[in-house]
Amino acid sequence: MSKPLTIVTIVGARPQFIKAAAISRVLRQRHREVLVHTGQHYDASMSAVFFQELDIPEPDVNLAVGSASHGAQTGAMLAGIEEVLLAERPDWTLVYGDTNSTLAGALAAAKLHIPVAHVEAGLRSFNRAMPEEINRVLTDHVSDLLLCPSQTAVDNLAREGITHRVALVGDVMADVLRLAVERADAALPDIPGVESGAYALATVHRAENTDDPARLRGILTGLSSLEMMVIFPVHPRARRAIATIGWTPPDHVRLIEPVGYLSMVALMRSARVILTDSGGVQKEAYWLGVPCVTLRDETEWVETVTHGWNTLVGADPEQIVAAARQPYPSMPRPPLYGDGHAAERCVAALEGVGRLKVEG
Ligand code: UD1
Ligand code: UDP
Repeated sequence: MSKPLTIVTIVGARPQFIKAAAISRVLRQRHREVLVHTGQHYDASMSAVFFQELDIPEPDVNLAVGSASHGAQTGAMLAGIEEVLLAERPDWTLVYGDTNSTLAGALAAAKLHIPVAHVEAGLRSFNRAMPEEINRVLTDHVSDLLLCPSQTAVDNLAREGITHRVALVGDVMADVLRLAVERADAALPDIPGVESGAYALATVHRAENTDDPARLRGILTGLSSLEMMVIFPVHPRARRAIATIGWTPPDHVRLIEPVGYLSMVALMRSARVILTDSGGVQKEAYWLGVPCVTLRDETEWVETVTHGWNTLVGADPEQIVAAARQPYPSMPRPPLYGDGHAAERCVAALEGVGRLKVEG
C-alpha cells in the first residue's frame, strides 16, 4: 500500500461539482483532499445545491472569484490557487473538464512543478473559437496524468503527441448518474401540465449560442415551434441573453430556474426528447435512453451521434424541429464511456497502481 497522498482539487463550475462528487468520495477513503472552489459559479442553484444533494464536502477554500472577462477571471483564479498550492505542496493537483477553473488550476500547478491530473482529458471539438477548446488543449499539454473517458479521447491525445501517462478510465459522470438515478424521481419538480414522456427538456448555455443573437433566436424559434411542452431550466448566462434580445416565451415553453442534479435527472429520464448544447447532458441523455438533439455544430461526444441517439443541428429552427420529431431511435444503445466505476480507476491512477483500462 502506498502512503496517503495530499490532493488539491480545483472546482468552480456546475459540472465540476458533479464530477468531484464521484472522485472525492473514493479519494477520501485513503487520502487527504483539499477542495478549492474558485467561485466561478456562485448562485445557490448553480453551486450550493450540488454540494447539498451530492454530499460533496464543504470546500476548504472558496476563492470567490465570481464572473469576469476570461483574462480577469482566469488571472484571479491563478493567483488564488497558487497561494493554496504553495501552502499545501500537494502530491497532485486534480482538475476537471474544460472551464476557466480547469485551466487556472492546471497552469498554477504546472508552474510550481506540482503534478497535474486532468479528469476528462483528450476531448476535442476541433473548434478553437470555443473557450473550452483552448482550456482543454492547454490543460492536457501541462498535465502529468491524463484520465480519459473514451478511446476517442486517447486517440486525440496521441495525435497531439501525448502518449505517456494516459489512462482510459471511463467517465465519472456515469458514476454519479448510476448512484443518483434511484433517488431522482422523488425530486421531480412539480410543473403544472407536465406529462411524463410527452415533453421536451432544453438547456442552453454555450457562449457560441448565448452571445450570438442570431443563433439564440434560431434556437428559441425552434423550441417555440415544437408541438409539445418544453421545460427549459435556464442557465443565468442564457437568462441574461434572452432578456437582452427581448424574447417572451409562448405558453408551452416553460422557463424555470436551473434545477439541482436530482431534479435534472428526473426531468431528463421522463423527457420525450432532450435539446441541449451541454456536454454532460448529451451523455446523460444517452445513458438514460432519451434521444438528444444537440444545439451545436460539432460535439466532443461523437459516439452518441454515431450510435444514432444524438443529432447535431446547430441553431437552425427547421433542423431543430425536424430532429425533435424523429421517431424514437430503434438502434441499439451499447454501453459508452465506462461502467460507472471510473472514480476508482482515477484514484488508482493517482496512486500509481491498478488496472487502468476499461472498455467502452
Ligand atoms: C462555464 C464554462 C463552460 C461550462 C459551463 C457549465 C468557461 C469558459 N465556461 O460557462 O465550459 O460548460 O460553465 O455551466 O469556463 N452567472 C451567474 N451566476 C452564476 C454563474 C454565472 O449569474 O452562478 C452568469 C454571469 O453573468 C456570468 C455568466 O453567467 O458572466 C457566465 O458564467 P461563466 O462561468 O463565465 O461561464 P458559463 O457560461 O457558466
Ligand atoms: N444540470 C443540472 N441542472 C440544470 C442543468 C444541468 O443539474 O438545470 C446538470 C446536468 O444534468 C449535467 C451538468 O449539469 O450533469 C451539465 O452542466 P452544464 O450543462 O452546465 O455544463 P457542461 O456539461 O456543458 O460543461
